[in-house]
Amino acid sequence: MSLDEAIALAETLLGRVAPHPAAAAVYEVGSRRYTALTEADGTHPVSLLARQIPLIGGRLTTTLGLPPDAGEDLSQLDSLCVGVPWPGCRGHVDPRAARLVLGWARALTGGTPEVTAKVACSLDGCIATSGGESKWITGTQARSDGHGLRDSHDAIMVGIGTVLADDPRLSCRLVGGQHPVPVVLDSRLRIPRDARLLSGPRQAVVITTTAAPERPLRAKVIRLSAGPDGRVPIREALQTLGSLGLGRVLVEGGASVHRSMLDAQLVDNLRVYVAPRVIFGGKPWAGGTPLASLDAAPRFVFESVERVGVDMAMSLRASVPQKDPWGGSVT
Ligand SMILES: NC(=O)c1ccc[n+]([C@@H]2O[C@H](COP(=O)([O-])OP(=O)(O)OC[C@H]3O[C@@H](n4cnc5c(N)ncnc54)[C@H](OP(=O)(O)O)[C@@H]3O)[C@@H](O)[C@H]2O)c1
Repeated sequence: MSLDEAIALAETLLGRVAPHPAAAAVYEVGSRRYTALTEADGTHPVSLLARQIPLIGGRLTTTLGLPPDAGEDLSQLDSLCVGVPWPGCRGHVDPRAARLVLGWARALTGGTPEVTAKVACSLDGCIATSGGESKWITGTQARSDGHGLRDSHDAIMVGIGTVLADDPRLSCRLVGGQHPVPVVLDSRLRIPRDARLLSGPRQAVVITTTAAPERPLRAKVIRLSAGPDGRVPIREALQTLGSLGLGRVLVEGGASVHRSMLDAQLVDNLRVYVAPRVIFGGKPWAGGTPLASLDAAPRFVFESVERVGVDMAMSLRASVPQKDPWGGSVT
């Protein structure tokens, strides 16, 4: 029961505590119960509890183990339940606890953040008409659900094609919601100076190449050596976001970026909203060169399918998860 409770508590921190891990601890001693969450300065919830009360006797449950250098003495507890050890430490891994900190833990060890790709498409898999019209394919409830995703992620990434077509704000419009950091992949630095995402509540990150012209922009501009196709190298771009402490990245498209992400096997989760309409000859959600064989098609497993207002929402997970920092793969 306590681990479930601690996980539910830690979930409330998702998208709110970067660059630190979303973690929670529950300490039950006699009839008293104490809870703690990761502090904004990164203080571990167990360290926070230890400052409030001596951890002697009783049962301590923490979603994330302490770092090896924490210095807290847990030897006098009656029982200790750890959801997932600190990265690099050994111990039992509860997949639900691991998922809370997966992107943070991967980034800590030089890997890429946890990525959720979000798609809003028609029954025939299109994200826009052939003329580029995409507002709105799905209904209000699905769009609101999508804002819930923004609320629980540290960054939201799109390609420059989407910025030029839609001029999105990439903010979270839920009341009390948290805005993720907007990120744009823009190899030639074509982003308009008055793009709306550049004047939003969070400073935007524009990832470009060393070949792009110098331009003053109200954004953090990161230059990477272009890949062989002249574009921003996608894996390096993701690693850069990880090094900025952005462990949970929501990718909202468009088609070219989804394709690059899938080709590089960087998508952990897919959230697809399907509207009950058909857009003949529209833009498919993952574009690019056709595959030569079915064997090469990226595969996912369904986690859930539900009605969201008039639309259908599907959550999927990569069928071959990346190796995780604890030496296995969180499924
Ligand atoms: N319904 C939905 O869920 C949804 C969501 C988003 C967008 N859309 C629609 O999708 C359309 C835009 O899609 P799009 O495919 O044209 O554009 P996109 O995927 O948003 O952006 C593609 C551009 O990003 C740049 N880029 C830089 N590095 C890249 C990399 N490694 N991989 C891929 N792209 C990279 C490239 O331009 P440079 O070479 O100049 O850098 C590329 O042309 C619009 O019609 C928009 O309305 C729909």
